[in-house]
Amino acid sequence: MTYLAVPIAAKDLKSCKEHIAAACKAGAEMLELRTDFIEGLDTNKLKELIAAAKQTSLPIIVTCRDTAQGGQNNLPAPLRRQILTEAVKLGADLIDCEFANFLKEDFGQTIKKALAENKKTKLILSEHNFKEPIENLYEIYEEIYSVFPDAIAKTAYQAKHINDCFDAFDILREYGDKAIAICMGRFGIISRIIAKKLNAFLTFASIAEDQATAEGQLTIEKMKNLYRYDSINSDTELFGVIADPVEHSISPAVLNACFAAEKMNKVYLPLLVTDGQAGFDEFLDSITARVWLNFRGFSITIPHKVSALEYSQKKGEYIEPVAIQIGAVNTLVIGVNERITGFNTDYAGAMNALTEAMGTKKPLYNKIAAVIGAGGAARAIVAGLVDAGAKVTIYNRTVSKAQELAEDFKCRFAALEKIEETDAQIIVNCTSVGMYPKIDASPVPAKYLKPSMVVFDTVYNPLETLLLKQANQADAKTVMGSEMFIGQAAEQFKLFTHKDCPMDVLRKTTIKALSE
Ligand code: ATR
Repeated sequence: MTYLAVPIAAKDLKSCKEHIAAACKAGAEMLELRTDFIEGLDTNKLKELIAAAKQTSLPIIVTCRDTAQGGQNNLPAPLRRQILTEAVKLGADLIDCEFANFLKEDFGQTIKKALAENKKTKLILSEHNFKEPIENLYEIYEEIYSVFPDAIAKTAYQAKHINDCFDAFDILREYGDKAIAICMGRFGIISRIIAKKLNAFLTFASIAEDQATAEGQLTIEKMKNLYRYDSINSDTELFGVIADPVEHSISPAVLNACFAAEKMNKVYLPLLVTDGQAGFDEFLDSITARVWLNFRGFSITIPHKVSALEYSQKKGEYIEPVAIQIGAVNTLVIGVNERITGFNTDYAGAMNALTEAMGTKKPLYNKIAAVIGAGGAARAIVAGLVDAGAKVTIYNRTVSKAQELAEDFKCRFAALEKIEETDAQIIVNCTSVGMYPKIDASPVPAKYLKPSMVVFDTVYNPLETLLLKQANQADAKTVMGSEMFIGQAAEQFKLFTHKDCPMDVLRKTTIKALSE
């Protein structure tokens, strides 16, 4: 079992006690008493703090961190040593001592003696690097176990790329619950969740964002409610969205809610992959080389949709023909023998949304469609419409771009102003016009909107754009951009799980996440 440990790090005992109560209430499974945070720390304060923590009956780690390894208050070595040995005597379940200090004769011997006299307390030996990854990671773990075989070895290092996490995963795979391996920073967030799948001794979470003791530490609330912490075990399948930036992606909230609703042993993570194609390739290579991580699929978004296509092509993997035609892959599925399949669900999502709004059996065949814009989003929509047999004209501010796209899909093109002459039955906005913060703009003047039209805006921030508002006023049928997200997510869910997506959960969580 991996403990969900919460650091208690406050200046005074009163605050520490409040934080202990909050941690307990939020579902902490272990408390780490960061005594180095306490101002005027002495053994009396330690005694009171341990007594308060013991009332919870949760296991307790006592830490008195050296400033050289991220500690507070610059406490002298003799005091830190005294606090740790006293904690052993007071019955702490664990103490955490920096390995570098443990190797020092006076420090190490005193602690060893205290532990020998109090067999209940276990020892964590730790090494931290707040700037960069630790290079000789294996050697450090081996050295710790050779110096003190019963120790739980811990490292925490700053990840500078998501690919820095794989060394920590390899350690956890090798040593399991005799090890703690944490990658700090925004690139290391997944290490805090995957730790449980790999049976690490513990992973840390905070009671509130402003209480985190290391960069990238998630709140217990997020761990449990967003990332399904309680349901993770060694069989859990992993999924995620590969993006840069990824912080604002609503996909983890939405897909995890769908997995939870279907009681599936799967968790969906935000995967911040930087450094373009090279960073992407290394990430996928690292994943496919580690079958035991059990990553089974990815959503791919900005800026990696082309990287995903090129990676799959380089590896000779199967890619859905329409994804090749669109020039972008937004879904990767990892199958048997770690073989990858590439798809594009963006177009299918959009087409499903349109078809549903039109409510007829063959709704797109031979229909006249106006696509506004000629970028990546337009490409997926044009591919879908042409595939369904619609007669498409592309309208764009930069006519040459409209022409290029039209040539690829054998359809018509025109300058954006010509939209006023359109006799289209379907209008799709694929530009960013009307998107927050410039919400007072629309790519189609209201007077050209007619009741016979279906108007689809791929912009979903705001949910109801000016174009959609005016289309509604003109009695046209409308499709919100959120439906495109919902449509592509439903297709991805199906590809990931081979089951139909719980549409009510998908729709509800999407609208909720987009409204926040
Ligand atoms: P995406 O991948 O989201 O489609 P993109 O490739 O940058 O993004 O494409 C943006 C589209 O919105 C383009 O068609 C762009 O027109 P240009 O090709 O002329 O640049 C269009 N667009 C963006 N801002 C616009 C504006 N203010 N008025 C009209 N079209 C605009």
